[in-house]
Amino acid sequence: MKFVHVSDLHLLEPGAKAWGLDHAERVDRCLDDIVKWHGDAAFCVITGDLADRGEPAAYAWLRERLERFPIKTFLLIGNHDDPKAFGEAFPDQPRDANGFFQSRHRTEAGVFLFLDTYKGPTSEGRYCAARQAWLRGELERADGVPVWIFMHHPPFDVALPYMDRIKLDEAREFGEIVAGHSNIRHLFFGHIHRAAFIHWQGIPCTSLPALSSQVPLVAESVNSLYSLEPAMYGVVFIEDDKTIVHFDAGLDRKPAGERDG
Ligand SMILES: [Fe+2]
Repeated sequence: MKFVHVSDLHLLEPGAKAWGLDHAERVDRCLDDIVKWHGDAAFCVITGDLADRGEPAAYAWLRERLERFPIKTFLLIGNHDDPKAFGEAFPDQPRDANGFFQSRHRTEAGVFLFLDTYKGPTSEGRYCAARQAWLRGELERADGVPVWIFMHHPPFDVALPYMDRIKLDEAREFGEIVAGHSNIRHLFFGHIHRAAFIHWQGIPCTSLPALSSQVPLVAESVNSLYSLEPAMYGVVFIEDDKTIVHFDAGLDRKPAGERDG
């Protein structure tokens, strides 16, 4: 099976720009590219920061845009989102028994778990006892079948000082919950606005650049907090014995032209 991973849309009020970018225009083109080249994907996952400041108009735009997107899409929230505004715009979003936006999707390939790491109007993430209990229960319920986890905040440092200060607060507790579950095949996250691979506690983990602006790998390499680098979406192939993650900078793709000499 194949699915698509997208992250950090940071949608603004329609028509607005941030750091010189029209985020809605970029999301629009990205979704078109996904449909054109990966229309056979089983589903798409967007790992949070759907809106830049929880704007209701941004969620309304996204809801309308997704109605024209033929691939089933799972939405996670990030620190830039507003759960109340998100829930009002997407009233059918699944929640766990405590009202958190956590859900499970079972396929022939295994179990896909979508986590809610929202803490509040602050940048770091939270995984409270109630959410931890849900994850423990779902990992038990999976009973050894392959599991893929999706979350906005990473539960570990990623060697980016700016981001390591605002990772998941309960990183240690999260690590203890997933320890020993060798059926967890991969963890997909957003938040850090960079493509990265982390091998953590035996679990392969990948993140994506944002569809908006990026976080420079070396803060001093640009004279601004954020940088303009290619956005990417992930195309993930799940086969019997492996998970293949490709990163496609579709918004910047163009023909290579003639080879000189
Ligand atoms: Fe973000």
